[in-house]
Amino acid sequence: TPAGDSTGPLLGFESVSMSVGDRVTVPRGYVASVLAPWGEPVGVPGNMPAFKPDASNTADEQAVQMGMHHDGLHFYPLGGDPHRGLLVMNHEYTDDGLLHPDGMATWSAEKVRKAQAAHGFSVIEIARQTDGSWQVVRPSRYARRVTAYTPMLVGGPAAGHALLRTAADPGGRRVLGTMNNCASGKTPWGTYLAGEENFFGYFHGPAQPDAHAKRWGLRPNGWGYRWHEHDERFDATRHPNEPNRFGWIVEFDPSDPESTPVKRTAIGRGTHEGATVAVTRDGRAVVYSGEDARFEYLYKFVSRDAIRPGGAKANRELLDHGTLYVARFDADGRGRWLPLVQGQGPLTAAQGFADQGEVLVKARQASDALGATKMDRPEWLAVDPQRREVYCTLTNNTSRGTEGQPATDAANPRANNTMGQIIRWQEDGDFDGITFAWNHFVLAGDPANTRAEAQGNVKGDAFGSPDGLWIDPRGVLWIDTDASSTQMGKGDYARLPQNAMLAADVRTGEIRRFLVAPPGSEVTGATMSPDLRTLFVNIQHPGETPSERSDPADPGRYSRWPDGGRPRSATVVVRRLDGGVIGT
Ligand code: FEO
Ligand code: CA
Ligand code: CA
Ligand code: CA
Repeated sequence: TPAGDSTGPLLGFESVSMSVGDRVTVPRGYVASVLAPWGEPVGVPGNMPAFKPDASNTADEQAVQMGMHHDGLHFYPLGGDPHRGLLVMNHEYTDDGLLHPDGMATWSAEKVRKAQAAHGFSVIEIARQTDGSWQVVRPSRYARRVTAYTPMLVGGPAAGHALLRTAADPGGRRVLGTMNNCASGKTPWGTYLAGEENFFGYFHGPAQPDAHAKRWGLRPNGWGYRWHEHDERFDATRHPNEPNRFGWIVEFDPSDPESTPVKRTAIGRGTHEGATVAVTRDGRAVVYSGEDARFEYLYKFVSRDAIRPGGAKANRELLDHGTLYVARFDADGRGRWLPLVQGQGPLTAAQGFADQGEVLVKARQASDALGATKMDRPEWLAVDPQRREVYCTLTNNTSRGTEGQPATDAANPRANNTMGQIIRWQEDGDFDGITFAWNHFVLAGDPANTRAEAQGNVKGDAFGSPDGLWIDPRGVLWIDTDASSTQMGKGDYARLPQNAMLAADVRTGEIRRFLVAPPGSEVTGATMSPDLRTLFVNIQHPGETPSERSDPADPGRYSRWPDGGRPRSATVVVRRLDGGVIGT
C-alpha cells in the first residue's frame, strides 16, 4: 500500500456534481449497491424474521434485525480473508414515526421495547461474491445485536462509584444497554469503540434540576422518546443516577458472540460522538474523543500500559488505566492537554471533585474548571499514522457570539458558523505529548455564498457540516457531511440540497465530492475492505423530516430510498466497475 507521503496524485476520480434525486450518486466508473437496511435479519441462527414493510415487526423480531439509523461502522476481516469479514455498526437513534405502523399515536411497553431494540450495534458477517458484490452471510455464528437493554459492565475508576449506583444495580457495575451511538473506532487489538452521544435526551429529567443535572442537559420529557412511561429507569426524577451510567465510550469484541460490552470510564463521560485510537512509538493506546455539543470539549486518554499481543482478551483492562486530558487551543497555533486528574489544580474535594470517579462522571464540570477550549461541536476524529497528524470535524455552531455564549476564538473563528471546519494538530514528540501545534485543514463553505462568513476556504467542491471522518491507508481523508433537513437547500446551503461524501488530499488540500446521498439523509462512517477495492459507508435517516418525527400516514414523503417503500437507513457498498482501488 502506498504511503501517504508518496508522490503522485492521491485522487483520480471525476468529482460528482451536487445532483438532486432520491438515490446515491457516485463517480463515473463506480457502482453503489445497498446492503443490510434497517429491519433485515442479521442472521442469528434459527431466528431470522423477515422485514415487514408496514413496520409491524414485533420488538422481539426487531431485536434480531438490523437496527435503525445506521451510523459509524468498521470491517473486521475473518481468518485473513480480505473478502469475508464482520461488519459492525452503530444504530444511533429511532424515528418512531417510521418504526411503528401508527407512529406514536398509541404508546405501549411493546413500542418502547421495540425502540430500545432498534438502538445499539449490529454485527453481521459479509462475504464478497464472485461477481464482486457483497452479501450478508445468513445464518452466521457471529451475527448479533446489542441493544438499549443488553447487559454491560463498567470498567475503570468510576466503576462502582456512588454516582453510578441505582436501586436495580446497587453495586454500580452492571448497566443495561447503550444508545445514541454515533461514531465508532476500531482498536489495534480487534475491539470496537462506540460513543454514547445524546443520552440525556432519553431521560425524563426534573423540572428543577440541580447543578449537575442542568450541566448535562436533563429536562422534563427529554427529547420525547417516552421510554420512561413504560421503563421507569429512564425517569431520572425517580432514578437520578441512571443518566450517570451513560455518556461513556463502550468497548466490545465482535469476534466473540458471547462477549459483554464494557463502558470504559477512564476515557471520561461526555456526549461522546465516538473514539479514535492512535498508538505511541512505545505501543501505548491514545484514545481521542469529542463531545458533539456546542461549546463542549475535545479529550484524549493515554493508556498506562502498552498494547499486548493476543487481541481483545490480552487487552481487556488496557483502557481502564491511564490519564485523561482535555484540550486547550491557544491563539498562537499552539495547544496544551490539561490533565483531568483528581487533586491536581482546581480538581480538589473542596471544589466538588472528591475522587477520580467524580472527576470522570463530571468531566464537563472538570473541564470548565480547567479552562479548556469550548469547541464548535467536535464530531469524528481521524488519525494519520504516517504524517502523525490528528483531524477533527467541528460540524457547525450557530450560537457562538449570541447573548450569554462564548465569542469566537482562534480555533472556532466564525460566529454564525453554519458550515463548520476541520481542525488538525500534531503532538509535540509523540501522540502522548502534552503540547501540540494546530491549524485548520479547511473552513467548510460555499464560495458562491453572499454571506462572507459562509464562504469558507475550500480548494475544490463546496460542502458544509462535516461529520464523519476517516483516513484510508493511502492517506486520503474521507469527509461525510450531516447538514440537517432544516438547513439543506436553503440560505447558506442553497446550492447544497443533499449531504455528500468528499475525498481530500491532505498534502495539497484539494477536496473532491465523491458521493451524493438521498434527500434528508446524512452520510456517516467509512471503511474499506483490506484490498481497498470496496468502500462501505452508511446512509442514515433518508427522508428526515423538518419536523421531529416522520408522519406515519405518509412515511415516504421526502424519500423512498432504498427500495421504494418507507425510507430505511442502510449500508452502501461502493466498488469500481474495473475492480480498481477506490479513489485512485
Ligand atoms: Fe450523532 Fe454527532 O452525530
Ligand atoms: Ca455524527
Ligand atoms: Ca443527522
Ligand atoms: Ca452530525
